[in-house]
Amino acid sequence: MKILVTGGAGYIGSTLVPMLLEKGHEVTVLDTLSWGVNSLMHVANDTNLIIVQGDVIDRKLVAEVMIGQDAIIHLAAIVGYPACDSNPDSALATNVSGTKNIADLKSSNQILIFASTGSCYGAVDGICTEDTRLQPLSLYGKSKVEGEGIVRCVGGIVLRFATLFGLSPRMRLDLLVNDLTFKALNYKHIKLYEGGFRRTFLHVKDAARAFIFALENAKIMSGQAYNIGDEKLNMTKLQVVEVIQDILPDCDVTTVYSESDNDQRDYEVSYVKIFELGFQHTISIKQGIREMLKVFPFISIREKIKYFNV
Ligand SMILES: NC(=O)c1ccc[n+]([C@@H]2O[C@H](COP(=O)([O-])OP(=O)(O)OC[C@H]3O[C@@H](n4cnc5c(N)ncnc54)[C@H](O)[C@@H]3O)[C@@H](O)[C@H]2O)c1
Repeated sequence: MKILVTGGAGYIGSTLVPMLLEKGHEVTVLDTLSWGVNSLMHVANDTNLIIVQGDVIDRKLVAEVMIGQDAIIHLAAIVGYPACDSNPDSALATNVSGTKNIADLKSSNQILIFASTGSCYGAVDGICTEDTRLQPLSLYGKSKVEGEGIVRCVGGIVLRFATLFGLSPRMRLDLLVNDLTFKALNYKHIKLYEGGFRRTFLHVKDAARAFIFALENAKIMSGQAYNIGDEKLNMTKLQVVEVIQDILPDCDVTTVYSESDNDQRDYEVSYVKIFELGFQHTISIKQGIREMLKVFPFISIREKIKYFNV
C-alpha cells in the first residue's frame, strides 16, 4: 500500500515507519521535523520512503501529499498537556485544523487512522469503554476529542491509546514509565504524587502494531473508536514504581500528599473491543523498563530536557 504518515518522525512514527517499510509498503512521512530527522536516518536508504518537511496546517501541501495514497495514518499533533498549555493556539491549529484538513481532503476509498488518547476520558469512576462519555481535563484531551469527531464523520478509525512506554528512535522521557525509570536510575529516588491513581500503559512497538492491525482490519473498524492497550497493563502509579523497584532495588520512594500531580487522569480502561478483534500486547512493562535501562546510563541528567514534549 501507499501510506502517508503525518508526524512520522516522532516517538510513535519513528517506530511505526520502519515496520511499514519492512512489510513492503511505500511510506511518505509529512512532519515539521520539530524534533529533527535523526529518528528516520536508519531507514533513509529504503527506496520506499519519502520524507516531506511540512505542516498539516498547510492545506495545499496536505492535498499534494495525500494524492495517490491508499491510507493516511495521522499522528502529527502537539502532544501532551504541558506542550498544549504552553502553546494553546498552535495546539488547536495542529490538533484540530490540521486534522480537519486531512479529513476534508480524504477520498472515499482512502483509509484514515487517527492517533487519539485515553486523555479523552479524564477522571472516570467506572471502567471506560468506547461508549463512556468523554470528559477531557486538559486542552490536549479536548483537542483530541474534537479531532476524533472530525475523523469519525468521514469514516476514519480512531485509536485511543494508553500511555506509551519504551525506547523509540525519537525518544520521549516525559511519558510516565520512561520518566520514573530515568529518575529511579539517576536519582535513586522517586517522589510519587497520587500513587493510587489508575493509569493504563502500552509499549510503543505494540502501539505501532495497532496501526498495522487497523490497516489490515480497516473495513470492520471504519468509523469507530477503539481503546488500544491491554487490561494486563492497567496499573496504579504505585504499582509501576514497584515494578521499577523490583529491577532497581536501591531506588526509594517518597509518597507526597501535600502537592498534587498536574496530570489528574485517574481511570481504568476496558480493551475488550479490540481484544475481541484479536489484538493484544506483546511487551510487558518490565521488559520495557529493562530495555530502557540499557540506554539510560548514557543519557545525562542535563540532556534529559531534550526528550521532553514541552
Ligand atoms: N506517546 C503516547 O503515549 C501517546 C498516547 C496516546 C496518543 N498519542 C498520540 O500519538 C500521536 C504521536 O505521538 P508521539 O508520542 O509520537 O508524539 P511526538 O511529539 O513524538 O510526535 C509528533 C510528531 O508530529 C510532528 N508534528 C507536530 N506538529 C506538526 C504539524 N503541525 N505538522 C506536521 N507534523 C507535526 C512532530 O514534529 C513530531 O515528529 C499524537 O497524535 C498523540 O496525540 C501518543
